[in-house]
Amino acid sequence: MELLERIERGEEIVGVLGLGYVGLPLAAAFLRKGVKVIGLDTDAAKVDSLLRGKTYIQHIPDEVIRECLDKGFQPTTDFRRARECDAILICVPTPLTANHEPDMTYVVGSCESLVPYLRKDQMIVLESTTYPGTTDEVMRPILERSGLKADRDFWMAYSPEREDPNNPDFETVTIPKVVGADHPDALAAAVALYGRVIKRVVPVSSTRVAEASKILENTFRAVNIALVNELKIVFNRMGIDVWEVIDAAATKPFGFMRFTPGPGLGGHCIPIDPFYLTWKAREYDVASRFIETAGEVNTSMPHWVVMQTMEAFSKRGRGLAGSKILMVGLAYKKNVDDARESPSYKLWELLEHQGVEVSYHDPFIPVVPPSREHGQFAGRISTPLDKAGDYDAVLISTDHDGIDWVDLLERAKLVIDTRGVYRKPHPKVVKS
Ligand SMILES: NC(=O)c1ccc[n+]([C@@H]2O[C@H](COP(=O)([O-])OP(=O)(O)OC[C@H]3O[C@@H](n4cnc5c(N)ncnc54)[C@H](O)[C@@H]3O)[C@@H](O)[C@H]2O)c1
Repeated sequence: MELLERIERGEEIVGVLGLGYVGLPLAAAFLRKGVKVIGLDTDAAKVDSLLRGKTYIQHIPDEVIRECLDKGFQPTTDFRRARECDAILICVPTPLTANHEPDMTYVVGSCESLVPYLRKDQMIVLESTTYPGTTDEVMRPILERSGLKADRDFWMAYSPEREDPNNPDFETVTIPKVVGADHPDALAAAVALYGRVIKRVVPVSSTRVAEASKILENTFRAVNIALVNELKIVFNRMGIDVWEVIDAAATKPFGFMRFTPGPGLGGHCIPIDPFYLTWKAREYDVASRFIETAGEVNTSMPHWVVMQTMEAFSKRGRGLAGSKILMVGLAYKKNVDDARESPSYKLWELLEHQGVEVSYHDPFIPVVPPSREHGQFAGRISTPLDKAGDYDAVLISTDHDGIDWVDLLERAKLVIDTRGVYRKPHPKVVKS
């Protein structure tokens, strides 16, 4: 097989299609190993930024982009260059539609854009998180419009991404990578390709197994987060501190994994990916009840936090309407600048609906970025924490490490803490 020989000789050119949170670090990993990389993206502003050596992702500094350019990185919007690539790795978004169904627009669009340039012996790998069957049922027929036949003229594989933004313990090369293909030659080539840069490649027998493994990983997180969120409500009613309970349970050296509750569920993956499986399961007349239940619990959390806030206010002899609340943390988790699907937006909406004047503070997000779902908040500016005393309450929705929590508690009149920042009981703190 010619492709495998080119990989083994180290002559392959890799195309990374979709230069976002996933694609950019992947491109950097190949470049660092001396592989030639062409970056394809439809967003001209991103390509332009990369060509100027400027990052658009907080945890990928400018130096990394410049290092990539020095190593020959070629970002472009010109999809004709796809023909030069021996392997193309597709890392485009897979969101949900308004009806909570898989939105395959980006996967379909990117595959369609490759059709005119697909050539013999090329390999196309889908990396986007998706339901089992996507590579075979969605990608294959589109690519075969080229007149070439999959796994005979060109090769297909699926390899999910396991990026954990801002986790200092793992990076692209040290996270084991699952690779699945539906033909042994395709699998051999994909394993060889990723083996050039990833320390441990885990081959599986089909694209469907690889797709399902990623959904399992994220469903596991969604369900366990829902469990601790539910327990937070149950224990709260019983007057038991859920964080103390979790700390105690986590001392068990086997058979327990720590998950922590919060104001809801956020991020680009965990709230979304399980619903890809739910949708696909319906085609087979089976229900994925755990996923649905977890979704319901996690979705209800911001509502519960607002109820708790209301209760805290009424205990102090006042209502929410007309009050001012400073929400600390817009990012969906600590120490990242990513607010996609963040429950903070939901809290913001619910509080405003109650007549609260809401401001936010987030050291990682100085200005609220534009977004499809929460466009009304775009352009709002982070309030400095020394103003905390001007508000009727501070609501902690993200527990960023850099914040001086002791100082904040001193300044605040009342704190609604959804993250267990303050462990010891304090008259100003309501654990929610
Ligand atoms: N962000 C994460 O931490 C993470 C982790 C694991 C898996 N994933 C999965 O990886 C995939 C990509 O996520 P992301 O966070 O990198 O998304 P992203 O939005 O950061 O990046 C996607 C990129 O694709 C580009 N794009 C969109 N349509 C295109 C097209 N037709 N042709 C070329 N480029 C196109 C966009 O301009 C953007 O630069 C998703 O399926 C996601 O679920 C993400």
